[in-house]
Amino acid sequence: MFTPNKNYLRLQGSYLFSTIGKKVREYKEANPDKRVISLGIGDVTLPLCPAVIKAINKATEEMAHAGSFRGYAPDLGYEFLRSAIVANDYKARGCDIEIDEVFVSDGAKSDSGNISDIFGDNNKIAVCDPVYPVYVDSNVMGGRTGEYNPEKEGFDGVVYMPCTAETGFLPVIPEEVPDIIYLCFPNNPTGGTITKDELQKWVDFAIEKKALIIYDAAYEAYITEENIPHSIYECEGAKKCAIELRSFSKNAGFTGTRLGFTVVPKTLTYDGVSLNQLWARRHGTKFNGAPYIIQRAGEAVYSEEGKKETKEQVKYYLDNAKIISDGLAKAGYTVFGGKNAPYIWLKTPDNMKSWEFFDYLLEEKNIVGTPGVGFGPHGEGYFRLTAFGSKENTETAVKRITGQ
Ligand SMILES: Cc1ncc(COP(=O)(O)O)c(C=O)c1O
Repeated sequence: MFTPNKNYLRLQGSYLFSTIGKKVREYKEANPDKRVISLGIGDVTLPLCPAVIKAINKATEEMAHAGSFRGYAPDLGYEFLRSAIVANDYKARGCDIEIDEVFVSDGAKSDSGNISDIFGDNNKIAVCDPVYPVYVDSNVMGGRTGEYNPEKEGFDGVVYMPCTAETGFLPVIPEEVPDIIYLCFPNNPTGGTITKDELQKWVDFAIEKKALIIYDAAYEAYITEENIPHSIYECEGAKKCAIELRSFSKNAGFTGTRLGFTVVPKTLTYDGVSLNQLWARRHGTKFNGAPYIIQRAGEAVYSEEGKKETKEQVKYYLDNAKIISDGLAKAGYTVFGGKNAPYIWLKTPDNMKSWEFFDYLLEEKNIVGTPGVGFGPHGEGYFRLTAFGSKENTETAVKRITGQ
């Protein structure tokens, strides 16, 4: 008789964005005349840039001819893309990452969920609170947590690291030592960042405790300030304790095109077992490679044209972030983030609960955002707006929210 994976039964409710989607759908059905603006889900709106489209068209044409047609891609990614990644994202920043430490994938969501496959089920994980939900839920599925504990609004056996206004939205090194620590900077949802010195403390802690950091740098392209690391490998010793996740979704608009990569240094070993080899094996067994056309598109992101055009797109979103931050601050809101990230994290007015504010914005202002509590109990009383809308919608949304 078959048995299901009962770990799934521990998962709480439906995924945050499905709940939001349902509420918005119901509202629109009941109010078809209202023009609802979404600054909710972190999805981009600008089209792919010309350099990327040119590469897609060229690669598509290659697929039309027997001489240049490509079948299965190499499991770990085409060398042309992996070498562009190494040269531009790592060597150019002084990080000594080798091509065989880069694994191309269909995005950081899959990798952040799948990476736990290579870890034993007795590892204790630590996550920020609030947090991108995938890190916790994928570990729940893998049986690396206890039951959901309604009192603490989290899972037993997980170390939650509160990130609050008091801590500058940074986690504090926990007393209970975890085995695997998930960090994400620039952060989703708070839009916060970490300086190189602060990140170095985490690297030193992980090395001392023989813990592993999974560093999600999906938003690194949004860093505008100095002394904020784009990669954890800018910190000394990080190759001994960290895996890094990257995505083409937010720097180049590949949310629908799907491309990402994970760096697993060869120096990451446990009792002679190489994590790099385990991930290569996992990738080779369960993944058949990102499409050739899309990998060529990814390569184009690193061309001179591609760099210029994608930088302009990131700037467009950062300008939107400034419109939201400045507009809300002027109207008396307390706002965080938005400087090195496409997210604005705001304190709800009059101590409203996050979902209460969600309903208020949807029903009274026809604006969709994301309730902070959906990312964890310490997100209660906060709300996330994204800068990924059009400039026009962003301006209209700010006017509606502030009434100015
Ligand atoms: C922190 C973080 N990591 C990963 C992802 C997923 O990225 P991708 O589109 O590459 O799957 C997101 C998407 O919103 C994210 O916010």
